[in-house]
Amino acid sequence: MRRVSSFATHLECSRCSEYFEVNTLQQTCARDGAPLLVRYDLGRVHEQARREEIARRDPTLWRYRELLPVEDESRIVTLGEPMTPLLDARRIGAEIQMPALKVKDEGLLPTGTFKARGAAVGVTRAVELGVSTIALPTAGNAGAAWAAYGARAGLRVVVVMPDTTPQVIVRETAAYGAEVYLVPGSIADAGAVVKRACAQYGWYDASTLKEPYRIEGKKTMGFELAEQMDWSLPDVIAYPTGGGVGLIGMWKAFDELREIGWIARDDVPRFVAAQSTGCAPIVRAFEEGADESQPWPDPRTFAAGIRVPKALGDFLVLRALRETGGTAVAVNDEQIADVMRLVGMSEGMLVCPEGAAALAAAANLRRDGWIKEGDVVVIFNTGSGLKYGESLQGEAPRALAGGVLPDE
Ligand SMILES: Cc1ncc(COP(=O)(O)O)c(C=O)c1O
Repeated sequence: MRRVSSFATHLECSRCSEYFEVNTLQQTCARDGAPLLVRYDLGRVHEQARREEIARRDPTLWRYRELLPVEDESRIVTLGEPMTPLLDARRIGAEIQMPALKVKDEGLLPTGTFKARGAAVGVTRAVELGVSTIALPTAGNAGAAWAAYGARAGLRVVVVMPDTTPQVIVRETAAYGAEVYLVPGSIADAGAVVKRACAQYGWYDASTLKEPYRIEGKKTMGFELAEQMDWSLPDVIAYPTGGGVGLIGMWKAFDELREIGWIARDDVPRFVAAQSTGCAPIVRAFEEGADESQPWPDPRTFAAGIRVPKALGDFLVLRALRETGGTAVAVNDEQIADVMRLVGMSEGMLVCPEGAAALAAAANLRRDGWIKEGDVVVIFNTGSGLKYGESLQGEAPRALAGGVLPDE
């Protein structure tokens, strides 16, 4: 067996710092129910890993293997996760007075969203630890991604999602062979169903932050961004925040990179958590100075991925925002649709509603002066707009009579 990452040492409770064994199946902290985070021997990574060596490896998320919790390379479950492009967005940047605007386009990953990162590492780890049935609640895209990687690994996958989840995502998840159940309400209602079933049947609960490895996959967004910017970071990162795993993951990734000396200690981007006015628990908690959010009653937005009434890791998101001098902003569905249209037409990028929310939040912050004209701003477009067929913008096609096109 070739050891890929013998650098993971243990799991640590994100609230009380309790120690947990890394090579045993774990979920949340037995003491306080908080998420567990993988810890590495960063001193050894510093001694043994080299940035130049990373640059020579295949352009997939596995190139950061010293900082991933995988033991056996031969058992990695992969659909070929490419490094996603970091694109300049000059036309739209000029329009909103952000000349140094960039979009990290996660829509090119397998299953069309960044959820592939979490699923690739999460399913790989589930296989290593002997899991045979995975169950998870989802706002949609995570269910599709875990279904795909589960199929690839030959696991049984049970997915529970709100009955308002976009149709393409529901059908896609079923097409990977997962058992799909639709429930009224939000991901919180789906979560309650999964929790009961896992307790009853002994299935592995892969809910956001209830298993410790999805975040390790998502943190590779941060590694990639740093590498693509020549081991430096932007001034601002705007991220559409539902469960907040991507944001917490990048925050963790940057801490690890600082610790091993690959980025400067004072290179700290301000995180912006973008939410919808129809579901903004983090924004409200941030504004109130609270350490945790309160469940958002009746969450509504067509940006399904950020329709999360209460995140298990909300206290970590809020900590990340405050520690980095960041902020949280809510935008409405109309603004989200406008940005989808604008980005499609001016940049040729079909962003998902969640990615559009992040850009709309940044545009508001620029208008308020919180973002300065010279700031380098990276927007995470977390998925392809193709997954939201019913929400795509643009003029309706016209029926053509007589076979002659007008020149108008
Ligand atoms: C496209 C998209 N963007 C963003 C999110 C929110 O992700 P996170 O849990 O990292 O906040 C989701 C979650 O479902 C999503 O599907």
